[in-house]
Amino acid sequence: MDFNEAKAKLEKYGQVHVLRYYDELSDEQKNNLIAEIERVDFEPIIMKPAESLAGDIQPMSAMKISEIEEKRTELEAAGLELIRAGKTAALLLAGGQGSRLGVEGPKGAVNVGITRDLYIFECLINNLTDVVKKAGTVIPLFIMTSEKNDAETREFFAAHDYFGYDSSNIFFFIQEMAPATDFEGNVYLEAKDHIALSPNGNGGWFKSMLGAGLDKVIADRGIEWINIFAVDNVLQRMMDPAFIGATAGAGCEVGAKVISKAYPEEKVGVLCYRDGRPSIVEYYDLNEEMMYMKDENGDLAYNSGVILNYLFRIDALMRIAGNDMPLHKAVKKISYLDDKGEPVKPEENNGYKYETLVLDMIEMMNGCFAFEVDRNKEFAPIKNLHGKDSLDSAREMLAAYGVEL
Ligand code: UTP
Repeated sequence: MDFNEAKAKLEKYGQVHVLRYYDELSDEQKNNLIAEIERVDFEPIIMKPAESLAGDIQPMSAMKISEIEEKRTELEAAGLELIRAGKTAALLLAGGQGSRLGVEGPKGAVNVGITRDLYIFECLINNLTDVVKKAGTVIPLFIMTSEKNDAETREFFAAHDYFGYDSSNIFFFIQEMAPATDFEGNVYLEAKDHIALSPNGNGGWFKSMLGAGLDKVIADRGIEWINIFAVDNVLQRMMDPAFIGATAGAGCEVGAKVISKAYPEEKVGVLCYRDGRPSIVEYYDLNEEMMYMKDENGDLAYNSGVILNYLFRIDALMRIAGNDMPLHKAVKKISYLDDKGEPVKPEENNGYKYETLVLDMIEMMNGCFAFEVDRNKEFAPIKNLHGKDSLDSAREMLAAYGVEL
């Protein structure tokens, strides 16, 4: 692509300002910028964002903790059988930027320890290792990073000897990026020769995995189920044999770990049916009637809060791999160059990132099995430094769980 072609592409999307420092750049920088313009997909900026939930919404109930406890022995046995047969794998979603937490580098490298070092990645590997030991077998672990944190993530794992995990069973891959804009849809520049790009959400994980050629690992190893989980829940119980056994036994294409809402207004997405298909209604789409509705037992009807721990069947993922995903505009803090060409790190939200979300994959699945877990034992998300869902609250929960900090 030459300068004129790059300009024509930008004109198509109303983004010619991206070239405003072009004349100041060295030849190398000019080439970099043109190459970036060629590479970047500006389509998300002009795409119509996903609409809030329409259709006939009905509650979805979960397998309750009490029922799980009654059946734990058989559910675990079924799950362990699949794990030991090599039919399962774990996938850590670690491509996000953690802008609310506001720390430099990968979120998983944050130290939650107080008197000793204990990193988020370490907590997750420890939990996964519990299952490896119980099953007495290896479990492949895929780790999705982004261009922003890939090198640092790999270096961090290597520097800590993969926290004792067998590194030949860890597979890193990089997710795709999308341009970030101001509230009017103008692409930000991060440097005079560089567009502000951000990871394109957690919904593209399977596509990126295929793009990285990891379907070969899936095929070679005969993997049939994949358990994806978020980086920021330090009490995350991934590859839980009972969850795997229960989901596989339920005949659904996806299983979701859920927590009962702590109170009706809690800001958590809940599993539901939408026109008969499994779906997730975001907390901001839940109207008052749904929020306070009770089921026949007097519990909240819309009570199955999702915690970003899903078990997908590979054949279903393959079927939907080519599907278009709805696009979401996420309001975020985006570092940018101001009018004087000076870099700015905003304190407040200043624009949009364009994301696809894993929750939209749920609706494409034939059947979703909801599996209730104890929020005090399995849900300690770190989104912020202080307050709700924070480093502080996660430390308290880890300590209450008996983890030495
Ligand atoms: P969040 O929705 O909390 O987003 O991610 P985030 O980018 O990490 O944090 P904020 O919103 O900027 O503060 C939930 C999970 O999805 C992963 C995150 O790493 C986390 O595990 N994720 C998110 C990705 O892997 N890629 C993305 O593009 C976004």
